[in-house]
Amino acid sequence: MDILVIGASGAQGGAVARRLADSGHAVRGLTRSGAGLPPGVTPVAGDLADAAAVRAAFDGVTHASVVLPMVFEPSTVDAYVRNIAEAAVAAGVRRLVYNTANRIPPVPTSVAAFETRRAAASLLGASGVPTVVLRPPVYLDNLCARWVAGPLVHEGVLRYPLPADLPVSWLSHADLANATVAALTLPFPNGSPAGRTAASSGDSTAPTPTQDPQVSPALTPRAPSLSGPTITSRTDEGPTLGSNGSASPSHPGEGLTLDLGGADVVTGDELAAAFSVALGRPVRYVAQDLDEFEAGLTHALGAPTAAGVVSTYRWIAEHGHDLYDLDPAALEKTLEIRLTPLSTWIAAQPWTELAR
Ligand SMILES: NC(=O)c1ccc[n+]([C@@H]2O[C@H](COP(=O)([O-])OP(=O)(O)OC[C@H]3O[C@@H](n4cnc5c(N)ncnc54)[C@H](OP(=O)(O)O)[C@@H]3O)[C@@H](O)[C@H]2O)c1
Repeated sequence: MDILVIGASGAQGGAVARRLADSGHAVRGLTRSGAGLPPGVTPVAGDLADAAAVRAAFDGVTHASVVLPMVFEPSTVDAYVRNIAEAAVAAGVRRLVYNTANRIPPVPTSVAAFETRRAAASLLGASGVPTVVLRPPVYLDNLCARWVAGPLVHEGVLRYPLPADLPVSWLSHADLANATVAALTLPFPNGSPAGRTAASSGDSTAPTPTQDPQVSPALTPRAPSLSGPTITSRTDEGPTLGSNGSASPSHPGEGLTLDLGGADVVTGDELAAAFSVALGRPVRYVAQDLDEFEAGLTHALGAPTAAGVVSTYRWIAEHGHDLYDLDPAALEKTLEIRLTPLSTWIAAQPWTELAR
C-alpha cells in the first residue's frame, strides 16, 4: 500500500498518518507548508485548489485518507473534492476513506458545513474510486482545548456548546485513526463498496445532495466525467468490512458509509460525572451559550469560519437530538476494532497542563 493522507499535518489526518506510519506503511502527506507532519510521513507539497499538484500527489498512490480543511464555501469545497476525485481516478486508487469530520443529518439542511460534506461524499462515491465514508461525531480531543480544559481544571465546570441532555458518542482521534486504518484495509463484502450504509443509529439514509434545493448545483455528482477504474473483487483477503450484516442497501453510486463513535454514549451530565471520577473532584456540565461560543471562535478563526462551525452546533441544538448517538458494539464488530473507554481516555490526558 502506498498511502496519501490529505490533512496529515492537521489534528485528525495527523492521527491517521501517524498510526499508518507507525504500522510500517509508506505514507505521504499533502501539505501547503510542509510543517507539522508526524514522523515517518513524507511531505508532498500542494494545495487542494491546484489540480495539477493534487494529481502529482496521487501519482503512484494505492490508498488515500481524506479530511477536508475547515472551509465551507460550496464552490471552493467542490473544487477541492473534484481535484481529489479526478486525481484518485487517474491514479487508479484502490480505496479512498473520506472522513466527513462530523455526522451528516439524515435530511438535507441549509447548513453549509453539513451539506458540502454530504455533497463531497456523494461526489467521491460516484467517482468510481472504491470509497468508504466515515462520519464521526464530535471529538473528545476538542475537550483538550484550553477554553474547555481551563474552566474544567480551575472551576470544576465542563463547558461545551452542546445541550446537556444530548447523547454523544464522543470519539478520540486515536480511535478515529484505528477506524480509518480498518476502513482502508478490510476487504469489502463481495469485493465492492457500492451501495451500502452501515450507520448505527437514527436515520441511516445515505445522502443525496440533489434532494436539497439549497445545495449548489455545482456540488451534485458528475459521475460520467469521473468514471473510474472497475472495483475488483478482493474476497480472498480474510475478514470483510461490514460482514456482520450491519450494512444495508443505500443509493447506487454511494460508497460504504459508516457512522463512527466512541465506546461510551453519554449526556453532558454523564460526561461531567466521568470527569469527576477521573479527576477525583466534582465537575458539573454547563451547556455553553452558542453566541458566546461563536464570539470565542470568531476571535480564533475569523467570522466566516466560526459561523460555519457554530451553524452545526445550532442545528444540533434544535434538530439533532439523535445525531451523535451510536451502537459502539456494532461499530467494533464491523471494523474489527476496540474502542477506548471514555474513562481510559480521560485518565490519559494531562489536564493540568492543558489548562495552562
Ligand atoms: N467533529 C468535530 O468535533 C470536529 C472538530 C474539529 C474540526 N472538525 C472539522 O474537521 C475538518 C478539519 O478541521 P481541523 O481543524 O481538524 O483541521 P486542522 O487540524 O486545522 O488541519 C487542516 C489540515 O488541512 C490542510 N489544509 C488546509 N487547507 C488546505 C489546502 N487548501 N490544501 C491542502 N491542504 C490544506 C492543512 O495542511 P497544511 O496547513 O499543512 O497545508 C492541515 O493538514 C473541518 O471540516 C472541521 O470543521 C470537526
